[in-house]
Amino acid sequence: MRAFIEGLSFGARYFRFGCGEPHFSDAEFRRLCDPDTSVCADFIVVRSKDGRESAVASARYCVQPDGKRCEFAIAVADDWQGRGLGRRLIEALLKNARRNGLVLMFGKVLATNGRMLEFARRNGFEVLTDAGDPAIRTVTLALEADEADPTRQQPL
Ligand SMILES: CC(C)(COP(=O)(O)OP(=O)(O)OC[C@H]1O[C@@H](n2cnc3c(N)ncnc32)[C@H](O)[C@@H]1OP(=O)(O)O)[C@@H](O)C(=O)NCCC(=O)NCCS
Repeated sequence: MRAFIEGLSFGARYFRFGCGEPHFSDAEFRRLCDPDTSVCADFIVVRSKDGRESAVASARYCVQPDGKRCEFAIAVADDWQGRGLGRRLIEALLKNARRNGLVLMFGKVLATNGRMLEFARRNGFEVLTDAGDPAIRTVTLALEADEADPTRQQPL
């Protein structure tokens, strides 16, 4: 995961982590790569080539203190963008969040991140402006429960 984060372009890292520089401290890397699994679901797409594995995309949601909403973030390695990985990852996040009984997923996106805003719209999210911070957009999607899913949990 460290190699994945360090391998992102400055722009992708800036949009995902709010900081383009690759020089995170060990503590920051630990927080980024080892989320609290009691409240976060983490999905990583791994490429396997010549017996070596490397991460090429990652997405995560973290449940809010209300136990009903979750905040997500996503990043796809630059060379792997535009191949449908982002869409498949967001679908996996949404499916998992529904299964866990969550009712809303949202993300904070920089207003200058046109690609992510368009990506969010295409995947059903509504884009809202933030009255307190014009540099930020909130993308939000209500999660309808999949009643047919036998593994669905009640809200946390
Ligand atoms: C925003 C981001 C996550 C999108 O990921 P992605 O993998 O490029 O997204 P997708 O490939 O699913 O969709 C992008 C395009 O690829 C197209 N595409 C190409 N091949 C595809 C395939 N096989 N299947 C589906 N879609 C495909 C999609 O239709 C879409 O096309 P369009 O933009 O012309 O409509 C990615 O650009 C990224 O990581 N950006 C940097 C980090 C960032 O901004 N994160 C957001 C902070 S929360």
